Amino acid sequence: MSAPVLTAVAWPYANGPRHIGHVSGFGVPSDVFSRYMRMSGHRVLMVSGTDEHGTPILVQAEKEGLITRQLVDKYNRVIAEDLHGLGLSYDLFTRTTTGNHYQVVQDLFLALYRNGYVQAKVQMGAISPSTGRTLPDRYIEGTCPICGYDGARGDQCDNCGNQLDPVDLKNPRSRINGEIPQFIETEHLFVDLPAFTESLGNWLSTRTEWRPNVLKFSQNLLDDMRPRAITRDLDWGIPVPLDGWRDAPMKRFYVWFDAVIGYLSASVEWARRTGDKDAWKEFWTDPAQGYYFMGKDNIVFHSLIWPALLLGQNGAGDKGGQPGAFGTLNLPTEVVSSEFLTMSGSKVSTSRGTVIYVRDFLREFGPDALRYFIAAAGPENQDTDFTWDEFVRRTNFELANEWGNLVNRSVSMAHKNVGAVPAPTAPTAADEELKALARGAFATVGDNLRRSRFKAAIGEAMRVVGAANKYLSDEEPWKRKDDPARRDTILHTALQVVSDANTLLTPFLPHSAQKVHEALGGTGVWAAQPEVREVEDLDNAGIDYPVLTGDYAGEQARWASTEIEVGRPLDKPVPLFAKLDAELGETGPEWAPIVK
Ligand code: MF3
Ligand code: ZN
Repeated sequence: MSAPVLTAVAWPYANGPRHIGHVSGFGVPSDVFSRYMRMSGHRVLMVSGTDEHGTPILVQAEKEGLITRQLVDKYNRVIAEDLHGLGLSYDLFTRTTTGNHYQVVQDLFLALYRNGYVQAKVQMGAISPSTGRTLPDRYIEGTCPICGYDGARGDQCDNCGNQLDPVDLKNPRSRINGEIPQFIETEHLFVDLPAFTESLGNWLSTRTEWRPNVLKFSQNLLDDMRPRAITRDLDWGIPVPLDGWRDAPMKRFYVWFDAVIGYLSASVEWARRTGDKDAWKEFWTDPAQGYYFMGKDNIVFHSLIWPALLLGQNGAGDKGGQPGAFGTLNLPTEVVSSEFLTMSGSKVSTSRGTVIYVRDFLREFGPDALRYFIAAAGPENQDTDFTWDEFVRRTNFELANEWGNLVNRSVSMAHKNVGAVPAPTAPTAADEELKALARGAFATVGDNLRRSRFKAAIGEAMRVVGAANKYLSDEEPWKRKDDPARRDTILHTALQVVSDANTLLTPFLPHSAQKVHEALGGTGVWAAQPEVREVEDLDNAGIDYPVLTGDYAGEQARWASTEIEVGRPLDKPVPLFAKLDAELGETGPEWAPIVK
């Protein structure tokens, strides 16, 4: 039996539409992985949602002149649509402002608290005098007490590189509205991270499959674990379910505390919506495996903090304890992080202006071209610059010339000469060799996908496509008018390999895979797609929101070579991928022009 797989995808802040940098980090990789796992016979639960608390949300609401609730409603919907357009096959993409999420966060907190892993402490904190809200360190600016640089931030000085404390800045001011912050004594709750140093260390030492840099980075941080605040002086967030805190208007959980618990709450919400409220357990207890996908700036939250919260809930830190309401939960099997997609050296980010929005991209180029680019040329192992030139090259020479053309010429020759999948006769060594290459690729591509090595995986799949093109050029079926038996054998071989290559490419290119399936005479759903569904909050009647979900169990795609059926009628194929104008590489599209 294959182990159930939890695919846990980082939660995007509901503070703007998604740009291609976002989806290259958490989005496309997690979907390629989940689709492959489903095709290989695993039960998969893929969950995420919008991250709707915290300062990033408050700052954006202020900018847009919206109340917080309006802002998150707006971008929850926009983001769900962006991800839907890309064909990301979430079982549930929800949000952090649901009644269910509030309940799960509070329950998990209470388990930690009862097991003794939470302490209250008084500290100095900066607040904005006009709003009464906390000013996070990085939103405070002033003169560096060490080098005198005037643009230093509360957490560090970019000029001399020193770590700072906001109280030490000279002339401190808020970066949001310029006012002078007020420093007040304030009580907060802290998770006792040092109590997990040993259990985390033991667990990390078993994580031998992780990428070495992620493992090293996490292990190094273990030397200096300190209690970490999990509350903020804010009115936007989840209330703390303790006497004296519950009704405090300005005490809420810190956004990162509630967001990581989203993986669990979304699983619970999914289960409740299926009608079997315990169905999530299968994905959180042995032998289930949990794979977490994110950009590199999120690693510590997934490799240390979330595991620490899970250990505390389980009663498995230095202070022992009892498993809480959720029983004993699995820690992550793997933390898969990607690097950044840059635009000419600067991180593609909405704050710096150079932005390519997913929505614009999809409107003009469709989902699979972007998915292909991210898988083949994305920031898997290093920061990678996105260029239109490279995008045009990959689309034209790899997708259109190599893959699109192989499908098109194989199917159209068979259509024209036979009108159906032709019957093979005596296959030659060349025929057998090509078919064996395609069959063999299931193991190599699959092994790479299982380990989230997407570039290597798609490279191996495209090698089969290249070999099939070379085979057709060598065998020249178009010159075999006088030997129809040989011609049919060649075409049969080519169609068999098109079918195999299409299966190998399905996790990457699910939309085109469906079309190729149909071009080969197939019917029904080959690769299932998510849908946006309007649902009612399970705990607050009358509150509706969109979720992404889908019926993936019904799709036909399986990770194996299947024999094409001789005699199946074939229509004249329509081209799979449109070629892009070479000029696009120099100018960019109108909505994201290249600035020289
Ligand atoms: N919203 C965070 C970001 O964009 C990611 C949250 S991931 C989760 O950086 F684990 F906390 F959900
Ligand atoms: Zn300095």
